[in-house]
Amino acid sequence: MVPGIGAVGVLGCGLMGSGIAQVAAAAGYRVVARDVGDEPLARARGAIEGSLAKLVEKGKLAPEARDAALGRIAFTTDLAALRDCDLVIEAVPEELELKNRLWAELDRRCPPATIFASNTSSLPIGAMAAGTGRPDRFVGLHFFNPVPLMPLVEVVRAITTGAAIFERAVEFARSLGKQVVVSRDTPGFIVNLLLLPYLLDAVRALERGVASVPDLDTAMRLGCGHPMGPFTLLDFVGIDTAVRIADIMFDEYRDARYAAPPLLRRMVRAGLYGRKSGRGFYDYATDPPTPLDWTAR
Ligand code: 3HC
Repeated sequence: MVPGIGAVGVLGCGLMGSGIAQVAAAAGYRVVARDVGDEPLARARGAIEGSLAKLVEKGKLAPEARDAALGRIAFTTDLAALRDCDLVIEAVPEELELKNRLWAELDRRCPPATIFASNTSSLPIGAMAAGTGRPDRFVGLHFFNPVPLMPLVEVVRAITTGAAIFERAVEFARSLGKQVVVSRDTPGFIVNLLLLPYLLDAVRALERGVASVPDLDTAMRLGCGHPMGPFTLLDFVGIDTAVRIADIMFDEYRDARYAAPPLLRRMVRAGLYGRKSGRGFYDYATDPPTPLDWTAR
């Protein structure tokens, strides 16, 4: 654990937030996990329990360590409960206004020493830092899904981030057992800058009729050794999330590589978000999932 960081607040307990809460608690930090309602909190607790159970099953975690980790997480709907945290990590949806509203409220409640970090994948860290009274204590900590398994964290330095705060953020990520890479505060950082054009190109290839969803996936899995093909990964990340990231990056770079193909937008409008909604490029009602072809619709 990093000296001076005892309690970690996690704002937003979806896929990413619950994973961040889990790894922080497993590393020994007291965690305050906050979401807007009892239902998302119950889902987050279920996801954390399920993930810890898998790790115990595989012999990667002792049952006592699982119980201790769970015991360190307090779930709450009360934003004020984060006031005693030394570090607050935000993982709410990718909407700058929403994030900045929350940061402004937290800025009023937390002591000046609290470090603020965002898990945003594509919004500028500087655009959040500037809205607080502590732009020097604001940093990006970008985790990858599934957080308990993916070993990387991108630590992002906004132009205002203080050198000592940046170092503490790096140490914190390492204390979770993660490998750190350092990125400048530009949309997409490192991974999404390179990953998004690849995923969007796969959709363009599908739209052009190059090959089917399962063949494009198999090609990249077996031809390039990727753990998931592009369509399985899009469904895994969430098609709505991918479109939101693409839009933010297109807005910044004005480069056609980041333009979301129409098929993805049609899918989002229809609620076909991927795994989380049950259907995307695959139907998850079956095991194994059944490929779906929406190109002709
Ligand atoms: N917690 C604990 N254990 C888990 C888990 C979780 N959340 N999810 C899966 N596991 C375990 C499974 O039980 C399984 O255990 P076993 O080996 O004993 O059977 C093991 O992990 C492997 O899982 P699966 O067999 O279900 O699937 P895979 O072999 O495909 O591995 C994976 C899963 C690690 C997710 C792998 O497919 C992978 O690395 N995929 C790529 C993920 C990726 O690219 N993520 C980044 C997305 S981009 C992003 O997050 C950035 C954002 O900004 C968009």
